[in-house]
Order: sequence, then structure tokens, then C-alpha cells
Amino acid sequence: MTDMRRFIERMPKAELHVHVEGTLEPEMKFDLARRNDIALPYRSAEEMRAAYDFDDLPSFLKMYYEGMGVLQAEQDFYDLTTAYLTKAHSQNVVYAEMFFDPQAHTTRGIDYDTVIRGIRRAQVDAQDRLGIRTQLIMCFLRDMSADSAMATLEQSLPYRDWLVGVGLDSDEKGNPPIKFKAVFDRARAEGYGLTMHCDVDQENSTRHIWQTLEDIGVDRIDHGVNSLEDEALCDEIVQRGLALTVCPISNKCITGSLKAVEIRRMLEKGMRATVNSDDPAYFLGYVQENLVATQKEADLSRDQVVRLAANAFEASWLPAEEQRGLLSRLESYVASEAGA
Ligand code: HPA
Ligand code: ZN
Repeated sequence: MTDMRRFIERMPKAELHVHVEGTLEPEMKFDLARRNDIALPYRSAEEMRAAYDFDDLPSFLKMYYEGMGVLQAEQDFYDLTTAYLTKAHSQNVVYAEMFFDPQAHTTRGIDYDTVIRGIRRAQVDAQDRLGIRTQLIMCFLRDMSADSAMATLEQSLPYRDWLVGVGLDSDEKGNPPIKFKAVFDRARAEGYGLTMHCDVDQENSTRHIWQTLEDIGVDRIDHGVNSLEDEALCDEIVQRGLALTVCPISNKCITGSLKAVEIRRMLEKGMRATVNSDDPAYFLGYVQENLVATQKEADLSRDQVVRLAANAFEASWLPAEEQRGLLSRLESYVASEAGA
């Protein structure tokens, strides 16, 4: 193992952009399909993985939504979340903010309550058992209507204390941030943190990123790599101190490039870039593999790798005191490795 790989592996890390449904590994799909008496169109996990051959966002999303059909009971959501948190913990992820997509389940007849209770129970148990701290972010599907998003926001209110924020995902084409302005205004009034996907190399990417700033007032941007095409936009992101949750291996699968050099440019400009896994079971890399691939391709220094980790703790939606605690864990780790 190279020194850098080992350094990254043992470093305390946070992950801010991971879709819990995107952590559904083929092996678990087969287990859940058996449990729920569902037929799958593949003979084995290997065959399923071999079919993960995406070249754009819609081709990934098709597989992603099909895959989650095996999630039916509360226990399924519990098992899914537990498997992800166990894996994340094994990579020294000490804090994770996870997305979930309630509309992808309620539209197929699964109750909101079933989904969120299973995820929540896994979060509580993982904290007790492994010490991994987590929070949950509810995403709206942007290719559904704003009315449906608003209804979903209302469904979330009885579970307000289990959610830290809201996001926006699914197919960006023809679904700009502004479509959801009223929903995000209402979410802010409820005290939710606000983030939105600005997927990579989309139609009108920079216009959409401007909208998240000027029309929505997001607290964070998911992906957002195309901001680099617009100097004024980068300046505005720096000035607002907004973090970007970049997902290199996801980028590679969807656009053909890790965008690792772009991540280095963001760091050099003082933009608060972070590195995340997005949908690790589909893109075949968790946060460790994402950091290692980025460091290697962009030839990042150890300081830059630490900066990426520190950015994630600082951009987390944790109370300031907890953020400080995690940052000092990172600092102690770096000090213990100095000269190593
Ligand atoms: N982009 C849009 N929608 C998604 C993603 C993503 O990266 N992952 C899961 N749903
Ligand atoms: Zn995503």
C-alpha cells in the first residue's frame, strides 16, 4: 500500500453526498428479492454489476430506480442503511449526511413512515454500535412536480427532528432549481438546511448554479463542478463560503472524467470542495476509493487531502461544537502522522 493510500485510509473522514438507495449492492438486491419474492432480470450479482454501464445521468437513474424495487419493508431499509454505515465506518468515516428519495418509494406504494423508520433505526443502532454519527437529508425528485415535492415536504413534518435538511436530485434536464422555489422557501421556514444537485455537464449547468444562489439561497451545492466555467460564479461561491460536494467516481461513470483536476482548481481558488461517493454500489467506489483516485489523478499534496477532509467537517450540518470536536480529531491524526 502506498503511504498516501494508507494516510487517507486512516484519516477521520466525513461524507456529505451519498444516496442511501445508491448504496444497495447487487448481493443485497438478491437477498431482498428472495425475501420479498421478487424476480430480478439477472442470474447473479456479477451479471448485474456487469450491466452497470452508464454513459449519462438518465441511463444511471433508470438502473437506480429499477434497483430499489426490492426495498419493501422497514427491515429492508434498516438492512440497507446498516450495510452502508458498516462499510463507511470500516473506511474511518466518522460522520455521514445521507440522502434518501421518499418519492421513489411512495410512488410504488411504500409508506413514507416505513422508509424513514427503517433508516432512522439503523442510524441510531450504528451510532450505538459503531460510534458513527449521521444525519438524514430528504431529496425531492426534480423530474416530478413541485406540488408533489410540496406534499412530500408536508409528509416529512411529523418526522422533523429526524431530518437535517432537504435536497433535490434525479434528472436535471428541463428541471431547473427555480421550479422548486416555493418548496425550498417553505423548507427554510421549517428550519431545514438547503442543498440542491447541480449535476455535471448538464444543459444550462452554470445558469442552474446561479439560480441555487440567487433564487433559492442554498446552504451547499451538490456536484457544481461546472461553476469553474464562470469566474464571477466562483467568486460568489467563495464569498458565500459555500461547499461543493463533488463525487469523482460518479463523474467518471457519468461524464467520462473524475474531474479531479477541477477539484484541485477549486481548492486553489479557495472554494470549499469535498469528495464523496454519491451512489457507491453503482459507481463501484466508496469515499476511500474516491479520495485515493482524486489524489492520484490530480497529484494532490497531503495538505490538500487534509483540506478536503476538513472542508467536509466544516461544511457539515452539525452544531459548531461537534464540528470542532471532529476537526480536532482530524488535527490530532495529522499531527500523529507528521513526518511519518
Ligand atoms: N444526480 C441526480 N440524481 C441522483 C444522483 C445524482 O448524482 N444520485 C441519485 N440520484
Ligand atoms: Zn447525488
